[in-house]
Amino acid sequence: CPFDRIIIAIDGYSSCGKSTTAKQVAAELEYAYIDTGAMYRAVTLYFLQNHILLTDSRAIQDALEHIHIEFNYNSVKGCNETYLNGLNVEEEIRKQYVANSVSEVSAIPEVRRAMVTQQQMMGNKRGVVMDGRDIGTHVFPKAELKIFMNADPIIRAQRRQLELREKGEIVELEDIIGNIKKRDYLDTTRIESPLRRADDAQLLDTSFLAIHEQVTWVVAQARTTIMNL
Ligand code: DC
Repeated sequence: CPFDRIIIAIDGYSSCGKSTTAKQVAAELEYAYIDTGAMYRAVTLYFLQNHILLTDSRAIQDALEHIHIEFNYNSVKGCNETYLNGLNVEEEIRKQYVANSVSEVSAIPEVRRAMVTQQQMMGNKRGVVMDGRDIGTHVFPKAELKIFMNADPIIRAQRRQLELREKGEIVELEDIIGNIKKRDYLDTTRIESPLRRADDAQLLDTSFLAIHEQVTWVVAQARTTIMNL
């Protein structure tokens, strides 16, 4: 019955464990998982590869018409992977050079408009966990369950450093803290749907939580929400 399949919006700062949590919550509830950050990263990668100037709105508009993003399930890894114009870019979009430009790209109104339209279409079948920055405030303001995640910036930087190290990328902690603070600032102060907690979002501070604790907590909130529908 589609009525007991809800939309779960998970927003919050970068490196709070949003995607890992959202992915596992989706698996547990047998919902689709949509990583909207990956979509902005894929657009950023395209802009970098094609030397699109962020001040050239004509070039941006043209580029957006040539960008096709989809998620395909990798049955070996057991997760979705991001495809940009038919190419698997999952690894590339996670690299630091993409992270360094993504906030500027995702602040561009044309980029946001194009992504939000796609995200709303992806969620219209319901039964979806979507993570990002503006899901509860803008993409699905009527989502049945909204979570806003935060954590101490130093802890977020340490988590990010570990994640990069596991992928063979060695980055100084100071550089990561700098990147996180810059992204927080850009994400929360941009004009077009900035990162903010929706009034009806539940706050989840993950500083001292393990991933499985975060997942258990969100799944419990989801089951309560479904029961009360
Ligand atoms: O979740 P992430 O770190 O992969 O997101 C990458 C960037 O994309 C982040 O700096 C903010 C932006 N973003 C956004 O503006 N809106 C979203 N819904 C998701 C991500």
